[in-house]
Amino acid sequence: MPQFSSSVNSLRSSEIRDLMSLANKPNMILFSGGMPDNNLFPLNEIDNIFNNLTEKEKQIAMQYGPTSGIPELLGSLKEFLRKKGLPVDTNKLMITTGSLQAINILAKAFIDPEDDIIVENPCFIGAISAFKSYQANIVSIPLTSEGIDLNKLKETLDNAKKKPKFLYITPNFHNPAGTLYTLETKKALIKMLQGQDIPLIEDDAYSDLWYYEEDKGDLTTIKAMNPDDIDICYTGSFSKILGPGLRLGWMLVPEHIYQKCELIKQSFDACSPSFTQMLAHKFVESGAVYDYINNVRTEYRKRAEAMVSALQKHLPDNITFTIPRGGFYIWLHLPEHIDSTEVLKCAIEKGVVFVSGKTFDPHGIINNTLRLSFCNTSIDKINQGIPLVADSIKKYLENSNKK
Ligand SMILES: Cc1ncc(COP(=O)(O)O)c(C=O)c1O
Repeated sequence: MPQFSSSVNSLRSSEIRDLMSLANKPNMILFSGGMPDNNLFPLNEIDNIFNNLTEKEKQIAMQYGPTSGIPELLGSLKEFLRKKGLPVDTNKLMITTGSLQAINILAKAFIDPEDDIIVENPCFIGAISAFKSYQANIVSIPLTSEGIDLNKLKETLDNAKKKPKFLYITPNFHNPAGTLYTLETKKALIKMLQGQDIPLIEDDAYSDLWYYEEDKGDLTTIKAMNPDDIDICYTGSFSKILGPGLRLGWMLVPEHIYQKCELIKQSFDACSPSFTQMLAHKFVESGAVYDYINNVRTEYRKRAEAMVSALQKHLPDNITFTIPRGGFYIWLHLPEHIDSTEVLKCAIEKGVVFVSGKTFDPHGIINNTLRLSFCNTSIDKINQGIPLVADSIKKYLENSNKK
């Protein structure tokens, strides 16, 4: 047997992945993936963009590019981010191979084995894996319906024996919890972090996918508030507003952090694909991105509302969930004794699949929760699938009452 590194051995083997392989049957209704619907990709626009590239642009697209990104995309993306109020002129922008790479680079920049870092519980699984791969000691803080639990965070910071290397959060339309932090929570968090010398990684993969005008005030990113005395490393992605197959994301970070990150990216992949960067640049520069975001936002809102209605109709009363205001996900809280992996097994037999909660617990324990995605399933399928999820939960409750 080869001797694997201790960092690789610390990665969790995925029980969920094994279960998911059972879910490959035809006609299975999928509430599991966090990917956009294939039918929503802007294929005609991308065809047109490619066909209209000049010979020079095609040559740039086929060539290695600068580690920070091709200048064309850096320019158009800056304008896109400037419209969100982000401080693009006083920070450095780097294009990355998906925003997961941005998170991975930041993790490598800060974490030594056994270092404490703080995340929300639940937390995006890709980030958990990245942090574990650098052997971080993950400290988690529960999420409330208004954002990270500030009292618990304060208690953790006050009692910390060593300073955490960073705090990683997803304030806008959290994956998996769907939560949108209130503006008050964002402001209070800023106050708590100012002067602590703990960088904040703000993952903003979903903020364009808001559904309701009245939430726009809460959507302001912490990075856009530009507070003094906190190093905010902001990450974003083209995955949900164009296509994850492009593998393009970005980080907007203070200069002194950027310099380390650029060195790390050089060692990872030298540069992100120039080809997809050129396509993304044209998509943003032409303004097509804004129309596209409007279209998908409307479609995802319809799916979210359909799923909420179906859940309200079919779920037993003691199951609660946060009504999504944007993004891709609904997070269900089941009574404490319920094991959602057992519910999932039953659901798969009935022809529907979701992700059980402990996948998103950095410690792999809390499992009376589950994530339903509505992004990649038609309203018809949502209406067929939710009663099956509800039946699987009811069956578990009936069996546990008999015991
Ligand atoms: C919260 C969050 N951050 C980051 C990502 C990574 O996206 P990508 O690497 O495709 O840009 C995802 C993908 O699902 C996500 O949900």
